[in-house]
Amino acid sequence: ERGRFEHFMLKEIFEQPESIRGTMRGRVQPATGTVLLGGLRERLDDLVRSNRLIFVGCGTSYHAALACRQLVEQLTELPVSVELSSDFLDRACPLFRSDVCVFVSQSGETADTLEALRYAKRRHALTVGVVNVVGSAIARITDCGVHLNAGCEIGVASTKSYTSQIVAIIMIALLLSADRLSKQTRRREIIDGLAALPTAIERVLMLNDKLRMLAVGVLRDAVSILVCGRGYQYATCLEAALKIKEVSYIHTEGIHAGELKHGPLALIDQEMPMIVFATRDNGYEAICNAVHQLLARGNPQRMIVVCSEGDGHFFQGLGVGTTLEVPHTADCLQGVVNIVPMQLIAYHLAVARGLNVDQPRNLAKSVTVQ
Ligand code: M6R
Repeated sequence: ERGRFEHFMLKEIFEQPESIRGTMRGRVQPATGTVLLGGLRERLDDLVRSNRLIFVGCGTSYHAALACRQLVEQLTELPVSVELSSDFLDRACPLFRSDVCVFVSQSGETADTLEALRYAKRRHALTVGVVNVVGSAIARITDCGVHLNAGCEIGVASTKSYTSQIVAIIMIALLLSADRLSKQTRRREIIDGLAALPTAIERVLMLNDKLRMLAVGVLRDAVSILVCGRGYQYATCLEAALKIKEVSYIHTEGIHAGELKHGPLALIDQEMPMIVFATRDNGYEAICNAVHQLLARGNPQRMIVVCSEGDGHFFQGLGVGTTLEVPHTADCLQGVVNIVPMQLIAYHLAVARGLNVDQPRNLAKSVTVQ
């Protein structure tokens, strides 16, 4: 039921404070600083003892894993790789018994991810599912797993699954590092951040009207849009670009800020809208440099900077046309906050361009053929 919302996509974007609460319910315990994941309990020893973690998924699910890689590496101190299901299969990626493969999928039925799971089982890796749909193939075949509990997602564009997938993977990293003394301060910061996340998202949703104005204004007739960030926000760039292109049909590219000078700067002209994630974390100085580089070559009026609350004036002072101030949170959770305005921009662009928001052309909700 769409209720008061005109489309499922909008409903699902607005559900995120609640869907994230669903993902954490009974699992994240801020009072004691603990995380419980019933679906992993029986295999916890094997998980903690593994030599390597490999995340596998397609599209948005792949981006969610990418968004968490740095944190998983930091908390587990294990090598972590993130693979596209199709590419993982194409390469017949070497796997060992001591490897853990985590399959990330909203539907639990995506053909490439399912095939990658069967491949991992043949090679005796320990398989973990991060799946929304209970009883789906991936949920049934994996050795253990975590359900997203985000509620049913109907719009073809994944929105609430993305934010819940990030929260679920972060909970796994917290669980795997529970006994590491050296990680306790960091774990505490993240657990407190998780508890405050639904309220932070509620605050971002209040930007809805401003985001609609952007979609009917500077972005509507763009031929191409560039989305730039680095560190934890690199995944946000890729996911924002996917969201915008799949529902608005405007070519949008996510670019790592460190790569700008290695080619993409040549794309910048007076027409191109540029979106930059410049929220505060330890890459802030570097991303400010990227903002300067883009301002010098492009049209400042067409630049949109997503920044931390209180930093808007600074970027406006540099000439940036639009600033979107969002609540600050732990670095690894900032992507959950930052993607929400991008989901809304994608939605309003699709509506402004008269497109079928919930069912974009040529796409299906679950890709069950390879
Ligand atoms: O159901 P899955 O998470 O396995 O689906 C994977 C992709 O097809 C999916 O994330 C797709 O990229 C999104 N619906 C795009 O918004």
